[in-house]
Amino acid sequence: MSYNKKQIAVLVSGNGSNLQAIIDAIKSNQLKNTEVAIVISNKPNAYALHRAQTEGIKNVFINPSEFNTIQDFDKKIIDVLKTHNIDLIVLAGYTKILSSELINAFNNKIINIHPSLLPLFGGKGMYGQKVHEAVLKSGVKETGCTVHFVTQEVDAGPIILQKKIPVLSSDTIETLSKKVLGEEHSLLIEGINLALFENLPIKKAENYLQNTI
Ligand code: GAR
Repeated sequence: MSYNKKQIAVLVSGNGSNLQAIIDAIKSNQLKNTEVAIVISNKPNAYALHRAQTEGIKNVFINPSEFNTIQDFDKKIIDVLKTHNIDLIVLAGYTKILSSELINAFNNKIINIHPSLLPLFGGKGMYGQKVHEAVLKSGVKETGCTVHFVTQEVDAGPIILQKKIPVLSSDTIETLSKKVLGEEHSLLIEGINLALFENLPIKKAENYLQNTI
């Protein structure tokens, strides 16, 4: 651990392509003075854990079934995070809703990437492919991705960045998720840079909303 570098914790549940984007951005210096201190997964078989291992990054699976409540589970996560002097927590495909204890313990220091133009197609139960399925069902002509601060209300924290992506009549869940994910990676890096180095005041964070096509 290098104490003059910003320490990031990445919480994951699945493939971890966003985690990989962070790792690659650190290597290529798109993310400067930053280090992934720890990767935490709530799923034992998350490919994201394998990615962390391959890169020599500390990683841990915390088993939710060993805890009676989400508060107990998150207390364990808080303990792990506190031992790593974390500057920013990035939810990168993390499927669990955070307890208010965890959110309060890292006030204004948690960001999430979501595969839609929030506040559309967000909230409890809206993750991964389910989001794209709902987008297609609704008939909207554009979707996108959002990087935002995590607050008590699910997917409703101040928006840091958004990227719009057209929805074509030929799109399927697969094509849409691929297109959106392709844009998520660079948006997340930009969002991390803003959250870490621009000292965004959370109440004004919506001012940073950027819509680009
Ligand atoms: C990404 O599309 C991310 O936006 C989404 O899960 C996927 C994870 O991909 N997150 C959510 O839906 C959160 N509500 P990855 O594991 O390859 O980074």
